[in-house]
Amino acid sequence: MSKPVYWDYLSLPGLLAQQDGLDGDPSPDELHFIIVHQAFELWFKLVLSQLRLARNHLAAAHLPEEQVPFVVHHLGRVNVILRHCVEQFAVMETLPPQDFLEFRDKLTPASGFQSFQLREIEILLGLKTEDRVAHGGVKPEGHIQSVGKDSPFDAHARLQATMQEVTLRDALHAWLGRTPIQGSSAGDAGDEQVVDGFIAEYLGKVEASGEATLRGLVAALGDSERERMAPRIKAGLEEAKKFLLVDDKAVRRARAGLLFIESYRELPLLAWPRLLIDTVVELEEQLLLFRNRHARMVERVIGRRIGTGGSSGVEYLDKTTAYRTFPELWTVRSTLLPRNMLPALQRRERYGME
Ligand code: HEM
Repeated sequence: MSKPVYWDYLSLPGLLAQQDGLDGDPSPDELHFIIVHQAFELWFKLVLSQLRLARNHLAAAHLPEEQVPFVVHHLGRVNVILRHCVEQFAVMETLPPQDFLEFRDKLTPASGFQSFQLREIEILLGLKTEDRVAHGGVKPEGHIQSVGKDSPFDAHARLQATMQEVTLRDALHAWLGRTPIQGSSAGDAGDEQVVDGFIAEYLGKVEASGEATLRGLVAALGDSERERMAPRIKAGLEEAKKFLLVDDKAVRRARAGLLFIESYRELPLLAWPRLLIDTVVELEEQLLLFRNRHARMVERVIGRRIGTGGSSGVEYLDKTTAYRTFPELWTVRSTLLPRNMLPALQRRERYGME
């Protein structure tokens, strides 16, 4: 067999023949527009493959401890790619508004709204159709189905297939639900009592911590602060109760597991799980930054015009910056306690401590 050359290995002749646009003769600005979009879509392809790798491991009935770094590694790669994508919008932004108008109309109704790969990323993470913003009464999947009718490529079928997969969110929550809490594992005799006991003790400490904070504020700023601050501190406690005392037992155990990992993160057995959670938080953060950066770039290039996909444009895009697929990972942060106020750790040996 002959040895491959660089351009054959990378299929460059085929790849570089795919930037001709609709009429085969794009202007230099349109070439710029096409290449920047294609570069994003290539990164999305890699993100999807990394997400599936991480999800497959996380979704196993048992994730051996030594495989947690593998999951962190692949999600970490997704984060670096997304950070790079956020910066990449600066390349798009070099397109002056008037120069875009030269070719914008011929795109209509094509739009990033039809980026089926970004939709797949969102679906794979666990964003639900009902939580999406609709435009013109239509949600993205429905839009892709209706505009794709005349296309030889069935993007909608791809989305339908992705919807059948286990999401990263579900896999993560199932894994969190298996966290050993005060030495007790899910399925152990008496596990529910141990978990509920931990939650009750933790909430007691949250209350005590709130009272200490209030005393400190009153001592520093005067008694007049009590009336203003006491309701806020009480609201914090109520939020913590709402979060941890949820009726669904599986959800309650997963949230207690999350809280346990975040609280006792120095324990050898919990150090990697804590890193995994942080990597998922960063992933969501990067996606939010991506949406925000895209919206600001769009505002700079087309102002407040409607989009080629028919949405209200920037107004619609700004609404999507509120999407959260992992709200619990953020909420738990409001309930964390200083180390010296944590409930005493039980059965330390289960966490790799002498
Ligand atoms: C001059 C450049 C760009 C403009 C003016 C622009 C404008 C818009 C507008 C107005 C929308 C809302 C849907 C619509 O009505 O069309 C949209 C959606 C979108 N655009 Fe862009 N865009 C640009 C570049 C990009 C690039 C480089 C990407 C990278 C892939 C991108 C990805 C997306 C995605 C994924 C959506 C769907 C967002 C969502 O529904 O959550 N856009 N774009």
